[in-house]
Amino acid sequence: MNKSIAVTGAFGYSGSHIARLLLEAGHKVLTLTNSPKPTHPLANQIVVRPFNFDDPKQLVESLRSCGTLINTYWVRFDHKAFDHSTAVKNTLTLLSAAKQAGIERIVHVSITNPEEGSPLPYFHGKGQLERAVRESGIPHSILRPAVLFGDGDILINNIAWALRRLPCFGVFGDGNYKIQPIHVSDFAALAVREAFEAGNRTIEAIGPETFTYRELAETIGRIIGCKRPVFSVPPLLGYAVARTIGWIQQDEFVTREEIAGLMQNRLFVEAPPAGTTRLTEWAKANTNLLGRTYANELSRRTCSDHKDRSMMAVD
Ligand SMILES: NC(=O)c1ccc[n+]([C@@H]2O[C@H](COP(=O)([O-])OP(=O)(O)OC[C@H]3O[C@@H](n4cnc5c(N)ncnc54)[C@H](OP(=O)(O)O)[C@@H]3O)[C@@H](O)[C@H]2O)c1
Repeated sequence: MNKSIAVTGAFGYSGSHIARLLLEAGHKVLTLTNSPKPTHPLANQIVVRPFNFDDPKQLVESLRSCGTLINTYWVRFDHKAFDHSTAVKNTLTLLSAAKQAGIERIVHVSITNPEEGSPLPYFHGKGQLERAVRESGIPHSILRPAVLFGDGDILINNIAWALRRLPCFGVFGDGNYKIQPIHVSDFAALAVREAFEAGNRTIEAIGPETFTYRELAETIGRIIGCKRPVFSVPPLLGYAVARTIGWIQQDEFVTREEIAGLMQNRLFVEAPPAGTTRLTEWAKANTNLLGRTYANELSRRTCSDHKDRSMMAVD
């Protein structure tokens, strides 16, 4: 009997694209998720299980029917309700459960330039987890996207959103640090391809275009018909503006750690592209969509969505 493929967060952003491709190719998909979403278009084709991070035996049982685990699980920033250190602990629990359940291959999603020695919790945690995946003994592919774009993305959409609404656009510092966005469908195709590879691989999951942050803002502004003066601002001032936007939207627009990661050029690597879709072409084809509404990370994480409360600490 063909085993299922476990995809974390199959109703989330990259997870839903990955799950859709697997289903289209005739595979059985099981998801581990905080957000069951019974009305999601894929919901009736997927076996849904809670993460059960606080009940590892249940987690092992959930994974027993699966041969491969595609792991997208992570949190974007530290918040009163969730944080990177808990996400690291939970992912270690997931890896251990995968081993006990007999998972034969892991596709693990990381980020460009993870580093255990980094003071930035995102890159530090991703570095810890890459090591854990390598030490698990389970054949694996580690995928390192810089940033994902496409319908439903957050960063690229919200840059466009800001360009549509503000008279000018500030970049943190000189704005010359780089970013290499990959389209979410290209990324999903890569994850699915790697699910059927053998051996251990680490892939820089970047798209075909590299922008400086300044060029990215200028390019998106031009494409959506909102050309704004783009100027340098001290990072702290930029963060203060981001806080204000976040306060208005009840979200984190961009965190101090994300600004530091950008400015350290962590979303840039010297590597061949793994995706083919050009952000510029996609944006031109989606001018009417891009940045029309604000993409709110925290509203995607409301308590009502979450059956697994292990990440939802009490205030
Ligand atoms: N999006 C990007 O631009 C980008 C850039 C670089 C690297 N990555 C990496 O790509 C992977 C997937 O990213 P994505 O944007 O597709 O993620 P996502 O769909 O928002 O979430 C992926 C998984 O993590 C869980 N999750 C996310 N935030 C959480 C929180 N605050 N509390 C509890 N669970 C949470 C989701 O839970 P549910 O099951 O409840 O949905 C889902 O299972 C991540 O490992 C990320 O680090 C993403």
